[in-house]
Amino acid sequence: MTSRIADPSLSPLGEKSHEWARAHMPTLTQSITGIQGRPLEGRRIAACLHVTKETSVLIRGLKTLGAEVALAAANPLSTQDEIAAFLASDGIQVYAWRGESPEDYQECIRRILASRPEIIIDDGSDAHVTVHAAEEFHDLNPLGGTEETTTGVTRLRALEQSGKLRYPLIAVNNASTKFLFDNRYGTGQSTFDGLLRATSLLIAGKRVIVCGYGWVGRGIALRGRGLGALVYVTEVDPLRALEARMDGFEVTTMEKAARIGDIFVTATGQINVIALRHLEQMRDGVIVANAGHFDVEIDVRGLEAQAGAAGRKLVRPNLEEFTLKNGRRIYLVGRGRIANLVAAEGHPPEVMALSFSNQLLSAVYLARNYRTLERKIYGVPLEIDRQVASNTLEALEIEIDAPTEEQQQYARSWAKE
Ligand code: NAI
Repeated sequence: MTSRIADPSLSPLGEKSHEWARAHMPTLTQSITGIQGRPLEGRRIAACLHVTKETSVLIRGLKTLGAEVALAAANPLSTQDEIAAFLASDGIQVYAWRGESPEDYQECIRRILASRPEIIIDDGSDAHVTVHAAEEFHDLNPLGGTEETTTGVTRLRALEQSGKLRYPLIAVNNASTKFLFDNRYGTGQSTFDGLLRATSLLIAGKRVIVCGYGWVGRGIALRGRGLGALVYVTEVDPLRALEARMDGFEVTTMEKAARIGDIFVTATGQINVIALRHLEQMRDGVIVANAGHFDVEIDVRGLEAQAGAAGRKLVRPNLEEFTLKNGRRIYLVGRGRIANLVAAEGHPPEVMALSFSNQLLSAVYLARNYRTLERKIYGVPLEIDRQVASNTLEALEIEIDAPTEEQQQYARSWAKE
């Protein structure tokens, strides 16, 4: 099958971008070169990931280990077309372009699954869910799969609990070397990258409302403060709310935040966190963005319906103005889709090197161990997590101490002196 991409002539540009990312992902290079032999020889892999320069380094790494890879996007708006062109010219089956319609998006996922993959690497679980829900794939039984993000793992847990999970899965998101860095520092920086590219406005002195104080929300709040914003957090979990307060942020309700915020960023994985009634209370000219996986966190449909075609216009790339019935204007970043990928380039390569080392090593682990695995969700094996951390320290030329024999014995004894 041939690839379906926007423009094959973008390949040389994509290659340059790929090389830039690769040069800043030594951890991933080390993860690839540290593997003995070609454990993915002849294995068919379907990957549903944001098609970015960092992803191209992972995909080529899988190919180096012997895999045949088919790639689709994990979001209709996140594809870097030059990267799709570069990978297609490198023998990867790519079905991805920026601006796919919802139907095309689904069709691209069906195309990668039609390659009858033995391993499925997913971000958000649209591919895993298609395998389980679509009649045409009822006889597809991969030896295993992985999942990149919090929302995808939440969906897979629901699938596991329904008793319908058909193959073992590794929750890559739940590795310490993933969520502590990617979700927190990656999203923290790249969400502001997206906000700045879309708006070009000053952050200092603005009231930034961060909805959700999970790993993503913590990173956004931290970086918002660093840029001089007055950061407010909304939460539904009392523990996270308390943590936000003791981390030095104001904690309030969405109802109250709606009236005071200048910039709103959702990071909850939940639906209608910013509902139409909140949007109607906002001040004129506010900026609203979503950093969560799906475009469900802000009631974009409600906003569109109220503004109508006449009250809606694109004012800058990735920034739309909506005029509400009350005359106030709301500026929505990247159509309410994952702002750091739509309005910027996603996480920086250094951080994706950790996440994708976990993906790559988990795929190898599945290929080697699938016979002994059950149809359930596993964490990333601790030895992989620790290996990724050690490789990263080495790449950063950071040395750490090892516990002495005496310290190891002390840790093992219960009768402390
Ligand atoms: P998490 O589960 O650690 O945090 C989510 C937080 O949102 C929780 O503390 C929860 O109590 C809170 N929450 C739930 N409903 C809420 C509501 N109605 N109002 C306020 N807070 C609410 O999840 P994590 O890892 O922070 O991920 C959040 C979202 O971001 C997920 O959709 C995840 O897939 C996505 N994600 C996006 C990335 C990106 O590149 N933009 C990178 C990593 C994750």
